[in-house]
Amino acid sequence: MINIGLLGFGTVGTGIFKILESRQEQLKRITGESISIKRILVKNLHKKRDVEINLDIITDNFDDILTDKDITIIIEVTGDLEDSYNYITESLKAGKHVVTANKKVASRYFEEFTDLADKMGLAFLYEGCVGGGIPVIKPLKEQLALNEIIEVKGILNGTCNYILTRMEEGLEYSEALKIAQQLGFAELDPADDVKGIDTRRKLRILGTLALQGRIQEEDILLRGISSIKAVDIDYIKRINSTVRLIGEIRSYEDGYTAIVEPVIVSQDSPFYSVCYEKNAIFLKGDNVGDLIFYGSGAGMLPTGNAVLEDVIDIITGSYRNGNLLGTRKLKNLNSNIKGEYYLRISKSCNDIANIMESIAKEILCRDECVVIMTRSMLLEDITNLLKAMEIKEEEYFLARRGE
Ligand code: HSE
Repeated sequence: MINIGLLGFGTVGTGIFKILESRQEQLKRITGESISIKRILVKNLHKKRDVEINLDIITDNFDDILTDKDITIIIEVTGDLEDSYNYITESLKAGKHVVTANKKVASRYFEEFTDLADKMGLAFLYEGCVGGGIPVIKPLKEQLALNEIIEVKGILNGTCNYILTRMEEGLEYSEALKIAQQLGFAELDPADDVKGIDTRRKLRILGTLALQGRIQEEDILLRGISSIKAVDIDYIKRINSTVRLIGEIRSYEDGYTAIVEPVIVSQDSPFYSVCYEKNAIFLKGDNVGDLIFYGSGAGMLPTGNAVLEDVIDIITGSYRNGNLLGTRKLKNLNSNIKGEYYLRISKSCNDIANIMESIAKEILCRDECVVIMTRSMLLEDITNLLKAMEIKEEEYFLARRGE
């Protein structure tokens, strides 16, 4: 019998519980073990739950779980940062394997948790942190011995992708966000989704593994979709394209670039048909070539499924031992990022319009707002220009014209 301590009983925790309930027999047959959630840590003991649960297993005291010798695997899905840091470190120090879908804490303390687990000879696994139900962390780890990963990029946030798809269908931004929240895709604070912060956390994890050197959240340039308007979707549709929030890390001989940004994708791009809460992740290795991973990027059951894949790997001993993080010293080359950009500024005056015209390859509108396609230029030059014109974040939308 494998006993699990489940920390957190929100969307993902409930998904894990439901899958385990419904798959007991198959799990036993395939892993050779019965798997049971022995205790669940919650904040509020009296909260009404969506699933029927034996109240004796619920606790609001982490020590009940930490000191329980029968519990050998901890699943951490609280979604918070400070408490979960302690839960994970204490659990590993107490000799328990840890599986998490909490990107916030995994991204912040990625190296520390990985080192600690390695030192203790335990697993620290995090498939559910990236791409919801898509198995991507394990396949990426499998490529590391054989490949230099040159590029990793993807649609990594289900909520943003859902909003963008629904806006193309004519829905208002706020309405689309509300539905994404109701469907259980969004973070507790949806600003984490729409400002690109959640994508950045996932990209930090993928990039650090892929490039075998530490890439931290601060090393990744960030623009989200919170300022997008229906007018942007319309202009982008007119060039037979759509917009997606994409996180991208590229490796070069002398360093790397890392960015999360809205990208205009044409119908030829594999990202064009990635709709609603779906995610797609693209890897390029020097030997394996291109790999694409596609699936549900958010939601109770897909994410719960990813977490349980890690649990099965621990039980069957089929996870990768040892510290897989590399020690390459990587130079950040973000100041080299350039491209052609779609830029809409909602504020118009002669000065702004004139400056915009000076960088435009094409002017799409020069009325109450200014909309242009820029010529190829450094991103840094555009952002400096926006700063100099004192344009606030919510007053413009900037998207790179991609593939
Ligand atoms: N809020 C996240 C998303 C959940 O929308 O992708 C899955 O990580």
